[in-house]
Amino acid sequence: MHLRPLAAFLALGVLLGLLASAGAASPPPVAGEDGMVASVHALATRVGNDILRRGGNAVDAAVAVGYTLAVVYPAAGNLGGGGFMTIRFADGRTTFLDFREKAPLAATAGMFLDRAGNVMPKAGLLGYRAVAVPGSVAGLDLALRKYGSMSRRQVMAPAIALAEKGFKLDEADAAGLNEAAADFRKDPPSAAIFLNHGRPYRRGDILVQTDLAKVLRRIARQGADGFYRGPIAERIVAASRANGGLLSKADFAQYAVREMRPITCSYKGYVLYSAPPPSSGGVALCEMLNILDPYPLKDWGFNSAKTIHYMVEAMRHAYVDRNDDIGDPDFIENPVGRLLDKGYAAAIRAHIDPDKAGNSRDIGPGTPPHEGSETTHYSVVDKAGNAVAVTYSLNNFFGARVTPAGTGILLNDTMDDFSEKPGVPNIFGLVQGKADVIAPHKTPLSSMSPTVVTKDGKLVMVLGSAGGARIITIVLQTFLDVVDYGMTVQEAVDAPRFHHQWKPDKIFVEPFAISADTRAALERMGYTVTQQSPWGDAVAILLGGPALGKTVSGYCCFAGVDDRRAARY
Ligand code: DON
Repeated sequence: MHLRPLAAFLALGVLLGLLASAGAASPPPVAGEDGMVASVHALATRVGNDILRRGGNAVDAAVAVGYTLAVVYPAAGNLGGGGFMTIRFADGRTTFLDFREKAPLAATAGMFLDRAGNVMPKAGLLGYRAVAVPGSVAGLDLALRKYGSMSRRQVMAPAIALAEKGFKLDEADAAGLNEAAADFRKDPPSAAIFLNHGRPYRRGDILVQTDLAKVLRRIARQGADGFYRGPIAERIVAASRANGGLLSKADFAQYAVREMRPITCSYKGYVLYSAPPPSSGGVALCEMLNILDPYPLKDWGFNSAKTIHYMVEAMRHAYVDRNDDIGDPDFIENPVGRLLDKGYAAAIRAHIDPDKAGNSRDIGPGTPPHEGSETTHYSVVDKAGNAVAVTYSLNNFFGARVTPAGTGILLNDTMDDFSEKPGVPNIFGLVQGKADVIAPHKTPLSSMSPTVVTKDGKLVMVLGSAGGARIITIVLQTFLDVVDYGMTVQEAVDAPRFHHQWKPDKIFVEPFAISADTRAALERMGYTVTQQSPWGDAVAILLGGPALGKTVSGYCCFAGVDDRRAARY
């Protein structure tokens, strides 16, 4: 769906027009005084900020925002999907909650292949077979119980009210819903909620979600059991059974959140904490930063041919490993130590020809040194200095585009993140390997990368993005734009991006990312450059000032929120 950062900014309360010296293209980042929430939807941002103002901590606010986005941003906010939460406490401790979806117990490696062994188009994307066991409610509930300070009723009340009384749709809300209208029409319970008496919603209409409000009330009373045991799980299972899906009551009863240590690495004195497997995000981000660390990117210049060349080669190598080696840690041995070894980064650097593009045909799993839409991110910092980064998702916009009757819950299509057939690209063009084949109760490989950055033990940044396979390079570029190029956090979020993911062997560039002569220089080196519409939804909070080293007293933090999608309407 589409963002409206201006509205999101207004919901933050303080506009700092006078303080920031933004570049020509970007508005100044928004400032927060005692803490800050940054999300893609103004109503969710406001709910989170209210929780902070009422004395809640960053986890309370993050849980409240998670439930609110499920109501006001149904394209990606969810109860029927899953995600990750990276937490850094004010005292320096860190933790990571994996509440991503799991394959149903009845899932099999070949479940999306036809008799001839070919992948059935869209089978993993639309309808109940595409649905993996949701984790969001278990994740939000565990986070609140373990690390929050408020009651479930307190943090869930705003989401319940928005679902029950409804909220006014703005242009972006309506446009997002209408993108999926044709699929909603095929699923009567979805149509009853997300179409307006069979017709598309328009700006100014009120979206009421009575069934969802009831489900939220039940969760507020009973916690995760209200979702995973009893009538809600039963309704989801019944709808799944009736429509060719594989979900069972045992899938719901057995779902459990995993708490893990974040992946960590350092870059030019900054320490990053990001998502471990089953996400590839932290590993790939850190592998790229390890490769890039010694290079003077700042001197080479923002998006110069030389900078892009070295960054693209880092991306190419990191995505080989990401696509082939990483998977659910309960099922495979993830070679994290090897991939994040500084010596390994040096070996990759040695393979980069200063004058010539690498070639994805020549590198891949087994060649030395390698061994054999829609999502949403939000960031929270509270006045004590606790930081929470959450990325959660239904996978594509509105997930599998099915809603079990009587629940109001849109279900994910995250089964498509599995390697449905090793070597065949998924919706994001990712060519993944055996580490990510489907197995019962396995979690599919993810690119989601909720990330916290510190320096000298102090919190510096909290960031993440949507964008499928590109999430990792979006987070990389947003971080580097702040750290190496001195951009404000909003400029870094706005800066035009490029992306390479090993296969296809192309540099994708956003409009205006590179000049004609930079493109020509890259092509002379052997690159294929393809321009595409803007991608991603980055959301970042920078501590202390609008840009590094520009501290502003009286304000704790500054936010940059992505406007790319709104700009297309
Ligand atoms: O976990 C993942 O990597 C994907 N399910 C993320 C999907 C996504 O970001 C779609 N949004 N653009």
